[in-house]
Amino acid sequence: MLQLPKVIGHRGAAAYAPENTLASFREARRRGATWVEIDVKLTRDGIPIVMHDPSLKRTMGIDRLVAEMLRVDLPKDVPTFEEAIACFAELGLGCNVEIKPCEGREVETARVAVETLRRCWPASLPPPLLSSFKAASLVAAREAAPEFARAILLGRIEKNWRARAEEVGAVGVNTNGAKLTAPQAVDIRKAGYALSVYTIDDGAVAKALIGMGVDCIITDAPDVILAALN
Ligand code: G3P
Ligand code: MG
Repeated sequence: MLQLPKVIGHRGAAAYAPENTLASFREARRRGATWVEIDVKLTRDGIPIVMHDPSLKRTMGIDRLVAEMLRVDLPKDVPTFEEAIACFAELGLGCNVEIKPCEGREVETARVAVETLRRCWPASLPPPLLSSFKAASLVAAREAAPEFARAILLGRIEKNWRARAEEVGAVGVNTNGAKLTAPQAVDIRKAGYALSVYTIDDGAVAKALIGMGVDCIITDAPDVILAALN
């Protein structure tokens, strides 16, 4: 069974620092997280970077699409995946790497992400967990680098969740904690999958989810959730 920490910092510690930046990873570590979750996509020139949205508008105030930009033209606050990994090595952070492709680049993004992990992921850190909402990305990741554990990402648990997990050889299910029911949590755990939920920033809610059998809480506020669970 996949070993995950009880708490993973979402996009670093997005409640306290600009999401998916090195500052956010440092803040997550400072607030007690041992792992962070990040979103990885490709620039136009195929460089894997850490960014959630397809556009730079919300986080950087620049009304341009990542898929249309060269790495060299991105603000330097946007880390490359390699820079993020170097930061994790320095801080001793594990990582849930969410493959978040720009439209039409599902396979390519997964291949580049796992190639980067093979080349750069330090042996001193726990092995990363890959996740994606895109089955094509997870299938491509499995084909290129089966050694990296995979989790399906589901906005809600549908009846066919197990078939979707099996289709990509997942060992984990990552889902929206606000929509997860107790019977669903029991089913997923009984079937032997690691169960993670996002994005839970309320300590009492996190405790209730752990009580339902959830393994891991993905949160913008790791200090709040760690304090509630300890
Ligand atoms: O990986 C958990 C969560 O980050 C998935 O949704 O949209 O925040 O990337 P999103
Ligand atoms: Mg994400």
